[in-house]
Amino acid sequence: MSSQAPTRVLVVDDERSIREVLEDFMTVEGYDVVAVANGEAALEAIVAQRFDAALIDLKMPGMDGLEVLARFGELAPHLVPVMMTGYGTVETATAAMRNGAYDYVLKPFKVREVIGLLERGLEQKRLEAENVHLKDVLKQTVQAFANLLEDKDPYTRGHSERVSRYARMIAEGMGLSDEQVDTIADAALVHDIGKLGIRFEDLNKAEPLTESEYEMFKSHTTRGKWMLEPIEFMHELIPGVYHHHERWDGKGYPLGLVGEETPLMARILSVADTYDAMTSHRAYRRALPHDVAVRELEAFAGTQFDPQVVEVFVREIARDRQGQSSKAQRWKALEGISRPATPSRVNSQETAQETAEATSFDAASMAATSLGE
Ligand SMILES: [Fe+2]
Repeated sequence: MSSQAPTRVLVVDDERSIREVLEDFMTVEGYDVVAVANGEAALEAIVAQRFDAALIDLKMPGMDGLEVLARFGELAPHLVPVMMTGYGTVETATAAMRNGAYDYVLKPFKVREVIGLLERGLEQKRLEAENVHLKDVLKQTVQAFANLLEDKDPYTRGHSERVSRYARMIAEGMGLSDEQVDTIADAALVHDIGKLGIRFEDLNKAEPLTESEYEMFKSHTTRGKWMLEPIEFMHELIPGVYHHHERWDGKGYPLGLVGEETPLMARILSVADTYDAMTSHRAYRRALPHDVAVRELEAFAGTQFDPQVVEVFVREIARDRQGQSSKAQRWKALEGISRPATPSRVNSQETAQETAEATSFDAASMAATSLGE
């Protein structure tokens, strides 16, 4: 037994001999055992005290083992339940496993065998709890890094969050697992973390970067990798941080990887990052309208970007915008019902100004190759 406090086990069995054998043997082995004779007493015990595991007989008069298991699932979800059964009820025991039992033992059993089973179940629970804890720590650390970067570079405020949202959209659209989607979204939040190591005054300026400034800018990918390397639980984000400036045709950096040599995570971030960079204002240029940014992505699919990723993004962002605009229309309709609309001169002036900006924009001068951050 690895933990300091004794493991607390509740034994539920109507057979007195089984209760006694388990209680005696397991107590000698260092477990803290409470044995009860029926389901009702088991529920009372579980409400009053905390147990780590339970050994539950399937066939008992009154409340049977399956019902006890179901109630334990509600009252003590952290607990490891192991069913005890005779040959005649093995099918019920496998049904119990589908309903949350960790495993079952066949009577007559050796107590040593039961202890081995319990320990494996407890170890699995410990690992699951540790995993959940690590995931929380990862989320908090990622957010802290993202906040730090955005605090240092006001021009990218909101950028990481938006890139994360677009990356999630693509990853979901590609049918990746929930875990992969979360990892990609987290990597997006810190993709530019390496910029913490470079001078922003040199980079956020209206004039083009000098060659050495550009080299400095490019180093944020390797700096990001270097920053995350000592933090083991963030390692899964490194492929996105390190490779998000690779290009499909191999002309990107830091390694010049070609096509699928670049990890999928990074190919997704590249599209999400570039779209957001194009549609946001920067010191050196104005934001591009959505349609123009999408045309740019499509124009560079197969050279700068993974064509499949672009295709999925274009489809998903269209769906997202459609959803948002119908939501906005519904709100407008609701507002119209509650409050008659009054024409706003300011709004119409702003709209005219936006249209003028959009139409005067010269897309050809803004090749996507220069974008992405
Ligand atoms: Fe970047």
